[in-house]
Amino acid sequence: MLDGKKTLFSGMQATGNFTLGNYMGALKNWITLNEEYQCFYCVVDLHSITVRQDPAELKKNARALLALYIAAGLDPVKNCIYYQSHVSAHAELSWILNCFTYMGELNRMTQFKDKSAKYSDNINAGLYTYPVLMAADILLFQSDVVPVGADQKQHLEITRDIAERFNSIYGDVFTIPEPYIGKTGAKIMSLQDPAKKMSKSDENINANIYLMDDPDTIIRKFKRAVTDSDNQIRYTEDKPGIKNLIDIYCSATNKTAQEAVKEFDGKGYGDFKLAVGETVVSILKPIQDRVEELNKDKGYIDGIIKDNAEKANYFAAKTLRKVQKKIGLPEKIR
Ligand code: TRP
Repeated sequence: MLDGKKTLFSGMQATGNFTLGNYMGALKNWITLNEEYQCFYCVVDLHSITVRQDPAELKKNARALLALYIAAGLDPVKNCIYYQSHVSAHAELSWILNCFTYMGELNRMTQFKDKSAKYSDNINAGLYTYPVLMAADILLFQSDVVPVGADQKQHLEITRDIAERFNSIYGDVFTIPEPYIGKTGAKIMSLQDPAKKMSKSDENINANIYLMDDPDTIIRKFKRAVTDSDNQIRYTEDKPGIKNLIDIYCSATNKTAQEAVKEFDGKGYGDFKLAVGETVVSILKPIQDRVEELNKDKGYIDGIIKDNAEKANYFAAKTLRKVQKKIGLPEKIR
């Protein structure tokens, strides 16, 4: 609870190209959350370096993510969008929490197992303690809710365990965070294999719509989307390709599946795919234009980066001081 509102915290990695799935499944639904919550959206650049990064790319991607969030409609005055590395309390609390986390717990993290298999030449200690830094992110802001996908559930669980352990020793220091259960976004599937979720790590570029794809590319990818052969637009589980396109269309237009099916009654797949493509272009083009505008306005983005880092720092420092005091670290002499 901060300033009379519950706190919502989410972190995101600035690696890879964001997809229509990220937008419709998450980002789009965050725009109005600040009415109910004090929202923090942290660009977790310290998490990114658990995998080797090209310095110039990391810097560029982190800034691009920030601009994308603003362009997509997250108001940077009402939402605190900031870089993790600008608030040193993240790293400091993370160290302290490392001392309250058991290796046995970290050994059970499935993401660590997956990533150590994927990056077997660089299984570093940061990759191992990644969940502890994530716990620090969340607990620093006394977060009440955290919107997380299925792949991050285990990390939220360990965050709760660490917080409860700490509280049981030192009293009520941390708010115990809950997963955010709100209006869920649409689950967007791959355009090439509708049994799989659309994912920015997919190697097949035709499977994804990237948020920065130009209109021609978007239309072309929709035209090539895998469907079935009966040419009837119906919303059913046994037509996963068409169902996915209907879901995308509905997310873009705020129509129901029923309305969409009625609208395209008697039309073939060709017409339908083109219509979905054009609708998606009409959603993404304004965002892309705004990103371009923002990129030209260095001073504006810099101002947001500075102001939000200060705001985040203010709240984070309060929690960190409380923790330091509880565990017996000496107070600074001023
Ligand atoms: N691990 C998260 C992911 O890869 C990113 C993240 C870091 C995060 N810190 C967080 C998400 C805190 C929610 C809350 O998606």
